[in-house]
Amino acid sequence: MRCGFYVILFLLLVHLHGDRLPDYMEALVANGYTTNLDDLQIKNVSLPTNSKTATNQVLIKVVSTSINPVDRKLIEGFTTPLVFPKILGSDLAGIVVETCDTCRVQVGDEVWSDVGAYINSSETRTGNTKELGAWAQYALAYECQVTKKPANLNFTEAGVLPLVALTGYKAFVWFTQAPWHTSPNVLILGGSGGTGTAGIQLAKYFGAKKVYTTASLSH
Ligand SMILES: NC(=O)c1ccc[n+]([C@@H]2O[C@H](COP(=O)([O-])OP(=O)(O)OC[C@H]3O[C@@H](n4cnc5c(N)ncnc54)[C@H](OP(=O)(O)O)[C@@H]3O)[C@@H](O)[C@H]2O)c1
Repeated sequence: MRCGFYVILFLLLVHLHGDRLPDYMEALVANGYTTNLDDLQIKNVSLPTNSKTATNQVLIKVVSTSINPVDRKLIEGFTTPLVFPKILGSDLAGIVVETCDTCRVQVGDEVWSDVGAYINSSETRTGNTKELGAWAQYALAYECQVTKKPANLNFTEAGVLPLVALTGYKAFVWFTQAPWHTSPNVLILGGSGGTGTAGIQLAKYFGAKKVYTTASLSH
């Protein structure tokens, strides 16, 4: 009888603890610009602060993340200024653990996001980009950067797609305005790479009749 009581108490404590977010998480942190990725360190850091005050942010438990060329360029100092220490990484797939009252996604939703760690830290639209970064156990994202993960993609697949898919989408829809309205043939350089793979599929989706591509001599 007493044993049963302790089992129930234990399960209750596990349940209560399970609902609570930890105070700290592990993250891959850059302490300054470097060309040597070995300089990045896995550290225990506080969870990103949010969301009680910033009404347009969600906190995501990261299940998978990936690396894009821009991450490398950022840490080498070739792009926008960073605020250090900085958690890098833009792509992720994960589960929402905190949301805001007006956000479309809810706690428990499986989502994917380009959290925009590369966005210029002086850009007022996003404010303190020091907080944004996907190479961590938890990541903060602005609501406009988060949507529900397609059900036919697992977390690993979804975690590599956001930035390359957005890049392809911008190339077709924003910059070129679908040129095959006049020519049905599309040339995509580097079709075996991340942006190229997304670009070929988007070209087909938007109705290109023929898609030409290139790759290095390794193919
Ligand atoms: N990833 C993004 O979201 C993103 C966003 C904006 C801009 N970009 C830029 O877009 C470019 C590609 O990025 P990515 O992420 O797609 O890179 P990636 O996955 O590494 O793909 C690179 C592609 O370029 C090909 N390639 C490499 N060397 C070549 C050569 N000498 N001749 C012909 N093809 C060659 C590769 O072919 P093999 O497979 O044969 O090596 C591969 O198809 C980069 O300049 C990047 O900065 C990327």
